[in-house]
Amino acid sequence: MQIRKGGQIPSSEITSEQDYLDRRTFLRAAGVLGAGLALTPSMLAACARDDARAAGASQDALVPTSYEDITTYNNYYEFGTDKEDPSENAKGFRTKPWTVRVDGLVKKPADYALEDFLKPAKLEDRVYRHRCVEAWSMVIPWRGFPLRDLIARVEPSPSAKFVEFTTKLDPAQMPGQRGNVLPWPYVEALRMDEAMHPLTLLATGLYGKPLPNQNGAPLRTIIPWKYGFKGTKAIVRIRFTDRQPTTTWNAVAPNEYGFYANVNPTVDHPRWSQSKERVIGGGWRKKETLMFNGYANEVASLYSGMDLRRNY
Ligand code: MTE
Repeated sequence: MQIRKGGQIPSSEITSEQDYLDRRTFLRAAGVLGAGLALTPSMLAACARDDARAAGASQDALVPTSYEDITTYNNYYEFGTDKEDPSENAKGFRTKPWTVRVDGLVKKPADYALEDFLKPAKLEDRVYRHRCVEAWSMVIPWRGFPLRDLIARVEPSPSAKFVEFTTKLDPAQMPGQRGNVLPWPYVEALRMDEAMHPLTLLATGLYGKPLPNQNGAPLRTIIPWKYGFKGTKAIVRIRFTDRQPTTTWNAVAPNEYGFYANVNPTVDHPRWSQSKERVIGGGWRKKETLMFNGYANEVASLYSGMDLRRNY
């Protein structure tokens, strides 16, 4: 995850088609969805525009980034290292059939066909801030379900302290895996209490539609108070363990990418500041980065007593 040099501004960052939506509007919209009415992405966008005009959008309003930007400005090294590579190279990626292995310290280990895995899940729409360690951000309306619902179903043993997520290994389909830009497959992990937190999602969609391949179809994790690299795309394995797993970016550059990776504007990356973020779809506008990406009220207690400078 290198920061780009000046002058290489993708067009997606110059022209913003995004209108503004405040949080209550989207929650109202999500409520309508919850009531079973079909609300299309274009209806959401229209309602966003109306509300913005009425309210006068503030800089920090939770305004979804455009579908275009969310699906063409991606990090997914299995499909290339440039932001627009995944949307091009993941087009033909096959996500059916798909199996998720649940194993390790768990009472109900199994290989689940994705349909069976998802059948009991109650999908919800949630608008989350998305902050990349490269100091850019988006706001994404995810569709998914709390990871803890799945964890409750498979019954980890009390000795399980961590959950590890592994991305599919398939060099024939994933051109990036034919090179050694990262050790493959991509692996990430959470402490059990982080995985059980109600904000942590397994996502299957965004903007009310199935997850595009470049965003991690058919299944990925979302941990909104952490840098984006903690979210694992195209998950094929969920393993429960009593030891802190080795995770990809932490193994590659431990002084740059910590295991915790909580968004923290006061702890800089060794090569750049984390105090501000570039808003994708907002030109070069920068905004202040918030502690725990704005979710401090919900998650700060998970880390009480921990030195967040050392556990970055
Ligand atoms: N998962 C896999 N398998 N491979 C990756 O390269 N990149 C991570 C994360 N998950 C990555 C991954 C990083 S650095 C970020 S910021 C987010 O995915 C980007 O998610 P998005 O493209 O949906 O915004």
